[in-house]
Amino acid sequence: MPDRGIANRLVVLISGNGRNLQGMIDAVAAGRLSAELVHVFCDRQNAAGLTRAWRAGIPTTIVSRRDHESRAAFDRALARRIVAERPDWIALAGFMRILSSEFVQQFAGKLLNIHPSLLPKYKGLDTHSRVLKSGDPRHGATVHFVSDDLDGGPPVLSGSVAVREDDDAATLSDRVMRRVEVHIYPRVLEWAAQGRLALRDQSVFLDGEPLASPLHESFDDDQ
Ligand code: GAR
Repeated sequence: MPDRGIANRLVVLISGNGRNLQGMIDAVAAGRLSAELVHVFCDRQNAAGLTRAWRAGIPTTIVSRRDHESRAAFDRALARRIVAERPDWIALAGFMRILSSEFVQQFAGKLLNIHPSLLPKYKGLDTHSRVLKSGDPRHGATVHFVSDDLDGGPPVLSGSVAVREDDDAATLSDRVMRRVEVHIYPRVLEWAAQGRLALRDQSVFLDGEPLASPLHESFDDDQ
């Protein structure tokens, strides 16, 4: 596919199932995301997300931590391969490695992530169980720029659903994925592809205006 526009070369990093990647693939097919998915990088051999990329005809590369003597060497090798793809944007989509400060700085302003919580709440792992334990009425996911602060970079858009009395971590996680994650990530990436999104001095700009607070959407018509 030829380059179509200003900022539409998108590289995606995955580690696992790849449902967010699938959301991007589906959004491109539906004309909701005008990005070219140029390459998927994965750090695990048997990740299901690789099959999703192959089915969609997206080139993939596995970059395994085990093949590199240190975390820094792994990050450098990954960064080198990413640069070769000339990405406008890099989307971490369930990429479960902590990236070094050097890596984050190298791609600052074009590195996005999705985290399964309403940040700044519940950084880190096991977000769904922690939400249930705390008795929060709502839960969701947040797309944010990546900074050195793990899960703490400037947020762009979050989405939420109501937590139900009969939810367990599996039902809640599934609903957040289906109702929130696969919708909000392509939306932010479309703003990015259209040149509408930018990070300046750690502040998020949309259409040239700084976001006073992260955007939020409720997804409440769920069954
Ligand atoms: C998603 O829920 C994503 O938000 C989360 O991993 C899952 C990956 O699923 N990411 C993080 O927890 C990052 N801190 P997927 O591989 O099916 O898209």
